[in-house]
Amino acid sequence: MTDQRSAAAGNAAAGTAYNLVFVPGDGIGPEVIAAGRRVLERAGRIFGFGFNWREILIGGVAIDAYGVPMRDEDLAACADADAVYFGAIGDPKYDDPKAKVRPEQALLALRKGLGLYANLRPVTVHPVLRASSPVRESLLEGVDMMIVRELTGGLYFGKPSELRQGPAGREVVDTLTYTEGEIRRVVKLAFELARGRRKKLTSVDKANVLSSSRLWRTIVEEVKPEYPDVTVEHRLVDACAMTLIQRPAVFDVLVTENLFGDILSDEASVLAGSLGMLPSASIGEKRTAYGLHGLYEPIHGSAPDIAGRDVANPLATILSGAMMLRWSLGQTVAAEAIERAVASVLAEGYRTADLLSTTGDATGLRPVGTQAMGDAVLATLEAASTAGAAR
Ligand code: IPM
Ligand code: MG
Repeated sequence: MTDQRSAAAGNAAAGTAYNLVFVPGDGIGPEVIAAGRRVLERAGRIFGFGFNWREILIGGVAIDAYGVPMRDEDLAACADADAVYFGAIGDPKYDDPKAKVRPEQALLALRKGLGLYANLRPVTVHPVLRASSPVRESLLEGVDMMIVRELTGGLYFGKPSELRQGPAGREVVDTLTYTEGEIRRVVKLAFELARGRRKKLTSVDKANVLSSSRLWRTIVEEVKPEYPDVTVEHRLVDACAMTLIQRPAVFDVLVTENLFGDILSDEASVLAGSLGMLPSASIGEKRTAYGLHGLYEPIHGSAPDIAGRDVANPLATILSGAMMLRWSLGQTVAAEAIERAVASVLAEGYRTADLLSTTGDATGLRPVGTQAMGDAVLATLEAASTAGAAR
């Protein structure tokens, strides 16, 4: 094996200082992202690059500080950066259904404002975590899928979306709307990803009921001839939800509408042992000097019930940092080193509380908190680089 340091030099932009926006957000966000930032800094020292961090407030903390979930200047800072590293958003303080401003509005505005139309949510099951999943271990063998969630359209953004007075009292409307271009670009991206993997694409819809799904399905069929090497199947979202648990290993790339993707990805996280294991990358068309502009966040929320207690699992955030290195910063070697370090600490038995709960039995395991899990990843990363350099 080559020295990892010289391997890094063969990567894009060794010696570069990347401009990153750092968004701790609400709840457990600040804790998990602090661990992720330390891992990225260490990877930078090992592989010869660095970061200029610009910290901004978005979400509940921004409502507290500025009265709005996100200021225009902070959106502009995100647009100017090489990438955005994001913790979590949401605060029960703003859960009142009548509230005019909500933390989540900021995340949606950020996704839309940055044109991040595709959310990539890889789901793999680390072999030693099979016991952490409530799903039978034999079903988890070979699970390796990429959920591609459309992120800037559909039910999340359709207008009108409101509560109003009708002739029969209160009535409410949400709108599921897509242009064909919006569908085509995310479908094409999913085909491209499938081409680089096991060449199977599952498009998920509700075409037996929804017009939007019938157009979605038509467009998948229209794009299909451009990718003759990729096998395509259509599944209805309800049946797909069931197959995800019954036979999860059949999936390679899944592509679906915004809300379906939101729901199916939380469901899929059960396979991985915990919601705290799944990273995500949100990308669009915009490129930077090093790769695609993007936003990187764990798929979990702000978990206010466990915030501030050093118990949250930082691995989804750390793995999101690895995705950022790969997709936005051109540092594939460093990304792989972080992913290997995460696999090693799990193999060594380090477990945050979420990964212990379903087994109950902690024999041979090392229960740790957020910071200690981050430290374990740092130590492993460092040890691997020293071993690599000595070779
Ligand atoms: C996610 C989250 C968000 C979403 C919330 C926090 C708005 O659940 O990223 O999956 O629904 O998209
Ligand atoms: Mg979600």
